Amino acid sequence: MEKSVDYQALIPRLTALVEGVPHLIANLANASALIYQELPDLNWAGFYLMKGETLVLGPFQGKPACIQIPLGRGVCGAAAQTGCPQLVPDVHAFPGHIACDSASNSEIVVPLYCGGQLWGVLDLDSPTLNRFGSWDLEGLTALCSALEGALGDLPNCLLTK
Ligand code: SME
Repeated sequence: MEKSVDYQALIPRLTALVEGVPHLIANLANASALIYQELPDLNWAGFYLMKGETLVLGPFQGKPACIQIPLGRGVCGAAAQTGCPQLVPDVHAFPGHIACDSASNSEIVVPLYCGGQLWGVLDLDSPTLNRFGSWDLEGLTALCSALEGALGDLPNCLLTK
């Protein structure tokens, strides 16, 4: 199913929320709230943050989720390991998918970078099979680029330990 979210219209709203705010967690919390509010048919939207070889739960909207995901495990771990976005039409067909909310049926994960280094991922889940398409992949990739730009050097605090 293709949902025509106007990602280009979301970009300035996200940028306005984040730019000039020198607090990474506050910015990611607001970003997850905006995305969860504006994208239809989601049951989870949030961030996992790299700590060594593990993704650790960051700011999100939705039900409580698993706290640690090793690199290479599940959809988030695959995105972090490969550095490539993961578009999963049916999570039950994805080897190693980690079911945090049994309502989730499809998922999209976009890796996030600062100065060429991966510091986390944006993870969106939907209760609808095949919820995310190429429109969302392109739109969310653009949204994440804008987020990376607005955050500037803030994610460095995750990379320098
Ligand atoms: N399903 C994810 C785990 C995180 S939750 O969806 C919030 C995965 O397989 O990586």
